[in-house]
Amino acid sequence: MLKLIDVVSGYTDVDIIKGVSIEVGKDEIVTIIGPNGSGKSTLMKTIFGLVKLRSGKIMFRDKDISRLRTDRIVQAGMGYVPQERNVFPSLTVLENLEMGAFIQRDRFEEGLEEVFTIFPELKNKRTQKVGTMSGGEQKMVAVGRALILMPALLLLDEPSSGLSPKLRDVLFNKIVEINELGTSLLVVEQNAKMALSVSHRGYVLETGKKRFEGEAKRLLENEEVKRLYLGG
Ligand SMILES: Nc1ncnc2c1ncn2[C@@H]1O[C@H](COP(=O)(O)OP(=O)(O)O)[C@@H](O)[C@H]1O
Ligand SMILES: [Mg+2]
Repeated sequence: MLKLIDVVSGYTDVDIIKGVSIEVGKDEIVTIIGPNGSGKSTLMKTIFGLVKLRSGKIMFRDKDISRLRTDRIVQAGMGYVPQERNVFPSLTVLENLEMGAFIQRDRFEEGLEEVFTIFPELKNKRTQKVGTMSGGEQKMVAVGRALILMPALLLLDEPSSGLSPKLRDVLFNKIVEINELGTSLLVVEQNAKMALSVSHRGYVLETGKKRFEGEAKRLLENEEVKRLYLGG
């Protein structure tokens, strides 16, 4: 599905991502954990074409997307929910979801069905302005917007940030549901234990480099990973 080979990227002349190779297989949920500032968000933006690749290669569905524009990457079947500013607060739920489909209008109706299947909570609120909704609901709108074109791969940057423990559980259940409906997911999370517990595999990123990788279960049991990244 997705394969990064020795990816190097950054904003200024300093490299933030320093040669990272990771993979997401078909039907997988893969989580990237790691300390603040380790480059997790930068890596996601690099995959989605928002930060320029300096060297290395990104393959998506057997196609080289290393230098593709973001709209082309979306067309190729990828969705992305940024960590912040991922909804338009002054627009309604429906308008937000429409924005997600603006490059392929003809697929909106079908996508809307899918989004309401996963988030029935949004159905009766479709004309409500998103800025007036709870944090949990806004998050659902953000994820829904990225799902509207029914991507093969969804990138989620810190989906549970700012949510109460209860809403966090709800959101992670939705992530599993999205996966079961046929979407692969690459998730970045502060809430490492929770994210790994619903993932197939995981990676630990530190200062722009891959430090650990493996089956999620194995990472959760790894003494060093536990001590360094999972709070003991
Ligand atoms: N827009 C930006 N311009 C310059 N440097 C940035 C920008 N965004 C992030 N950085 C830097 O890149 C590094 C990695 O940040 P980030 O990818 O956000 O880490 P994480 O998501 O793991 O917390 C940090 O040192 C951060 O200061
Ligand atoms: Mg981040």
